[in-house]
Amino acid sequence: MITSVMKTDTKEAFDTAVNKAAELINKGEIVGIPTETVYGLGADALNEEAIKKIFLAKGRPQDNPLIVHISDFDMLKGLVSEIGEIREKLIKSFWPGPLTVIFPKSDAVSGHVTAGLDTVAVRMPSHKVAREIIARAKTPVAAPSANTSGKPSTTSAEHVYADLKDKIPLIVDGGNAEIGLESTVVTVKGNTVTILRPGGVSVEMIKNTIPEAEVIVAEAVLRPLKENEEALSPGMKHKHYSPAAKVILCEGDDEKIVAFANSYRNKKAVFIGKEDLCVKTGIDYFTYVNNEEEASLIFDYLRKADDKGYDFVIISLAKEEGIGLALNNRLLRAAGFEVTKL
Ligand code: TXA
Ligand code: MG
Repeated sequence: MITSVMKTDTKEAFDTAVNKAAELINKGEIVGIPTETVYGLGADALNEEAIKKIFLAKGRPQDNPLIVHISDFDMLKGLVSEIGEIREKLIKSFWPGPLTVIFPKSDAVSGHVTAGLDTVAVRMPSHKVAREIIARAKTPVAAPSANTSGKPSTTSAEHVYADLKDKIPLIVDGGNAEIGLESTVVTVKGNTVTILRPGGVSVEMIKNTIPEAEVIVAEAVLRPLKENEEALSPGMKHKHYSPAAKVILCEGDDEKIVAFANSYRNKKAVFIGKEDLCVKTGIDYFTYVNNEEEASLIFDYLRKADDKGYDFVIISLAKEEGIGLALNNRLLRAAGFEVTKL
């Protein structure tokens, strides 16, 4: 299969690309689509054959359920059997945007999408291209991140092409993903909101929006599952975000980090960090700060490290506030939960 890439940077190009994507989705095909978090690999959520193609193209484990994307609030009603007060507040505050909410599913949603669970994850993306594709297809769109399973997620059309070329008919290019980390995934039980995966909507933002609820972060967000521990979200079980290079995640003061990075000077290693540290390491580097804007670069850097043939990526843990929690969640997984304490 030859993969075409369609731009959306003029009104005509936008219309043509969005119509083509909607048409392919309606025909049961899978399409690479831009969202504000990461690129998604989208298919008609109500078409089981199309859903199977997603798992095949990504090499995704069958037990990992998909997020269903909608373009308006009306689409939600057909997918869920209950909304509830807290979920309603969450979606009114954060949709469209980088928040995925778990609901009890309706009968319309097949077990192929939810990996057999009786719940369904739903998100309304804010990216104009994604929303318009869903609206024109007139069907909810199931989409995991558009990467080969286990690899870093994709934040540009080029990344998607690198992973999925010849496996999908179309990638719609909507520019670089603005947030660059996947959505925050939450589940709600009674008065408790549990964060299963941190993302663009921070814990602090959720707490401020629903002060009456108890907001907790699932323990497995920052540590591996214990033997026999039940995964609150199937995604917690699997290997994620790993480039071919070994990611060495370290923790310590700046001086020690610089010295540690320098000890890799005779190896094919790249340091990712603040510019003032980078220049002192004496090894190759990508400059990067732990803030919202630059967090969006992390998957691109992990992919670049492979493209440029590095064997090691040296990076330090982020400060655990705002986007930092989401970053550490990804970095810990990329490093197999190993932290080098300096
Ligand atoms: O930002 C995002 O969420 C992107 C874009 C494309 O929207 N999508 C994405 O999908 O990251 P994916 O498949 O890579 O991650 C979905 C996560 C997985 O960890 C999965 O286990 C979890 O959501 N999930 C999906 N349905 C669930 C459910 N019913 N209960 C618990 N966790 C669920
Ligand atoms: Mg993913």
